[in-house]
Amino acid sequence: MTQVYEMKLWGAGEEVYYSGVGSHHPDIVAPYISVVTSFLKTFTPPLVVCDLGCGDFNVGKQLVKHSKRYIAIDIVADLIAHNKEKYKDGNLEFHCLDIAVDKLPSGDCVLIRQVLQHVSNNEVQRILDKVSHYKYVILTEHIPDGDFIPNKDVISGQGTRLKKGSGVDVLAPPFHFKPRHAKQLLCVASNDGKGKIVTTLYTNT
Ligand SMILES: C[S@@+](CC[C@H](N)C(=O)[O-])C[C@H]1O[C@@H](n2cnc3c(N)ncnc32)[C@H](O)[C@@H]1O
Repeated sequence: MTQVYEMKLWGAGEEVYYSGVGSHHPDIVAPYISVVTSFLKTFTPPLVVCDLGCGDFNVGKQLVKHSKRYIAIDIVADLIAHNKEKYKDGNLEFHCLDIAVDKLPSGDCVLIRQVLQHVSNNEVQRILDKVSHYKYVILTEHIPDGDFIPNKDVISGQGTRLKKGSGVDVLAPPFHFKPRHAKQLLCVASNDGKGKIVTTLYTNT
């Protein structure tokens, strides 16, 4: 992932680190902020939120004020160092961790936005095993339009399963993720005309 940022494989913005159009295009980001804000605002006291694969934090920065504590995590060390300098708030912290391997902080709600689409099935399962310990998991994935064969495997990196006509479905084999409840919060068209970006709230017991 470090190379993806260094080589600007997700494109280039005004900043040193750029997590891609999906993290910046207003037609994609604004509705996501709206639905997640609405969800977070239903809780008193506010939730402790863990943002797994926080990227350049253009999205996460808009949600910090709706959380009790906002713990933003990414595997790219220099990106986390940059975010620590750029974004400062009393309830905000950044950590450099591999979310498929390392112990994750405790919290009430996990946000995983356009991360699983970039990682192998082995990593997806390891991440799902960890997030099943949080009460709420809000997952966003870029998937094809219409019917598709889910979860074709990829090598972790810049690309997604879209190029294979596939996408992540955490409820389908080979994954064994068994949330108590699932509710789609949002579906928007991708800016490139290929597929859609779907956000789902999973509730664990
Ligand atoms: C496309 S970006 C999305 C960023 C952000 N979630 C957003 O929606 O704007 C995917 C991010 O996931 C991070 N990532 C991928 N695999 C990871 C892992 N195993 N542990 C932690 N972060 C990871 C990447 O470094 C990258 O910053």
